Amino acid sequence: MSSRRPTRLVAGNWKMNTSVADGLDLARALRAGLDGSGVEVEVLPPFTHLVGVRDVLRGSSLRLGAQNCYAEDKGAFTGEISPLMLADICDDVLLGHSERRHVLGESDELIARKLVAARRHGLRVILAVGETESERLEDTTMAVIDRQLRSALEKLDEVSDGELVLAYEPVWAIGTGRTATPAQAEEVCVHIVTRLDQLLGEVASSVPVLYGGSVTADNAAELFGQPHIHGALVGGASLKVDAFTAIVRAAEVATAAAEQR
Ligand code: 13P
Repeated sequence: MSSRRPTRLVAGNWKMNTSVADGLDLARALRAGLDGSGVEVEVLPPFTHLVGVRDVLRGSSLRLGAQNCYAEDKGAFTGEISPLMLADICDDVLLGHSERRHVLGESDELIARKLVAARRHGLRVILAVGETESERLEDTTMAVIDRQLRSALEKLDEVSDGELVLAYEPVWAIGTGRTATPAQAEEVCVHIVTRLDQLLGEVASSVPVLYGGSVTADNAAELFGQPHIHGALVGGASLKVDAFTAIVRAAEVATAAAEQR
């Protein structure tokens, strides 16, 4: 396995929450507390909030991401948002989230097309992968992760530093309060790191691997203490300034500790 020191990242996926006004207030509060953090901090608000949040965050160190995009640049795709539209507003786009896969029925093939389209417009992609509870019980977790990684990444020509982030989000841990144990999360993140090395070669060592699924201020430090967990994709706790700030602080402490090793 390549030696890796990727950027640490704490990203808040707001999902379909907050009015525009409340979202802008949240962004202002996060900027006030987290600008200049020793780790990368990112927010992923709903599409309707992106331009306003971009203006709030302008000139700060916080990154801005969208929660999804379509696989085409333009055309008759009512209700969809293209990566061309996002490229002027955002840094990143989240693709393959379990709610897109399992609630909204996105296939591996569609996610792969979206990834190529997003990269064509220079967006960094946060690719989410993860098994359902029944897949874990059937002991197919690693096979599911392999399939999701291979299908998403095989159509990409080349990946350079800073173009890709992975997020391991076990579906059974999302929004349930049932966090994967640090050992469970680490086991799958190690597997992801190994596969990324095989699929991407040298650049894989710069790809952060995040954990997501019921991350809170209480469990973040232990998760970040695992050598192959480089940050978190946070849902519910990212809507609360205090909780999200505490998770970022835990990542800062873990980064400082890792640097001393
Ligand atoms: P929760 O933190 O609410 O479990 O959500 C995780 C998630 O899906 C982040 O993308």
